[in-house]
Amino acid sequence: MCVPSCNVTLLQNGTYLRNGPGVWEVGDGSALGHLFDGYATLVRVSFRRGRAAGAHRQLESDAYRAAKERGRPLLREFAHCPTKPASLVDRARGVVGLVTGRALSDNANVAVLPLGDGRVMCLTETTRSSALIDPCTLATIGKFRYADALGGVIQAGHPVVTGSEFWTLLPDLVRPGHRLVRMAAGSSERNVVGRVDCRGGPTPRWLHSFAVTENYVVVLEMPLRYSISSMLKSELAQFYLFDWLPASGSYMHVVRKSTGKTVASVEVPPFMALHFINAYEEEGEDGQAAAVIADCCEYYADPAVLDALALHRLRSPRNSDAFPDGRVGRFRIPLDGSPFGELEAALDPDEHGRGMDMCSINPAYLGKEYRYAYGCSARWPCNFLNALAKIDLVKKTAKNWHDEDGAAAPSEPLFVARPGATREDDGVVISVVSDVHGGGYVLVLNGKTFGEVARVRLPYGLPYGFHGCWIAGKI
Ligand SMILES: [Fe+2]
Repeated sequence: MCVPSCNVTLLQNGTYLRNGPGVWEVGDGSALGHLFDGYATLVRVSFRRGRAAGAHRQLESDAYRAAKERGRPLLREFAHCPTKPASLVDRARGVVGLVTGRALSDNANVAVLPLGDGRVMCLTETTRSSALIDPCTLATIGKFRYADALGGVIQAGHPVVTGSEFWTLLPDLVRPGHRLVRMAAGSSERNVVGRVDCRGGPTPRWLHSFAVTENYVVVLEMPLRYSISSMLKSELAQFYLFDWLPASGSYMHVVRKSTGKTVASVEVPPFMALHFINAYEEEGEDGQAAAVIADCCEYYADPAVLDALALHRLRSPRNSDAFPDGRVGRFRIPLDGSPFGELEAALDPDEHGRGMDMCSINPAYLGKEYRYAYGCSARWPCNFLNALAKIDLVKKTAKNWHDEDGAAAPSEPLFVARPGATREDDGVVISVVSDVHGGGYVLVLNGKTFGEVARVRLPYGLPYGFHGCWIAGKI
């Protein structure tokens, strides 16, 4: 592949990596039925002196290998249950499999993360999914072995990773809550920093991602709760692995990184969010943090987005108004002991179009007051996110990009800063666009103007993917 008109002053040498689902069928037509369940396909696009070269490869998880060998999925996926246990012995085996995590999929199709020490990790929300890959060949090196005895079978889908550390949350299915853990770059040992107990209800809430500020970690509780019964009985709950229980309330907690102490725990309006965008501390008159602001992609407290991502819905006519509306939800969490927090739209959703998810920011602004976010949006009618938006959270406006023939699904727009940049939006945005005709291209947008810098037409189509990362320089 080559980049025909690439602006090399904007696009530094480096490698874009992306993870996501790519294979839903194994054996003789045995198929998974939800976007979240496709077996992980890694994509690499390396940019060097204005040219690009790419590759893709399947991640060799145990779940994928077993499905290929047996011709059918064998493990519990998000929306797929293995065969129900036929006997008491099988049921007992199933319980052991749940407790050890071995009955749960290790299909690490959510994120791909450079750990700051040269290692690159892929993962999904089961602890055993954590795997190391070679960023050059995309080969699966093997399991990431945590050098600790923390146990637990579930982890957040989006750890927060910087050059020096790795923060994540481990849901506790037995004593509902979340353990906050930290791992230093170069280490494989997680250390428990603190714990947040869930407020009300029998099980922890689903927590796909979370947010951090410079001094705090924001732990969320939305009404979507793990269904232990769904896991034990090998059957789908109301929303696959979860039940929607708004009567159990919605809460936000703020934990101090240095002590692990919870410094705020407030009730907030009900919400539904998979992805947090960023968070920062709002300064009071005394110069101390008076509140935490946390932004997310919010679906108006409606979990219907999970059903909207079932493959039979995504394969329905694309001109149906089937994709749920979304907005940038902004939480304000007071740190003065007040019992309630606020949630409102950070800008008029009409600015970016209907639908909003899969955001990235300039990573230099992680945990700090920031102005710009880049996300997938929707130009209706559509049944999936089909546009991109650059959001200005200060002016409360958006710049939008949309494929001219309207038949494309751009993946998460990843912001990459220009080397030496001083402005927040000085850089490029990279997205892989899948079109419904089976083709696709790598799209490079100017981070400031949101105009096209380059398109790299792919020799073959790639499925829609989830999350990516950037590794500067040569790998
Ligand atoms: Fe995600």
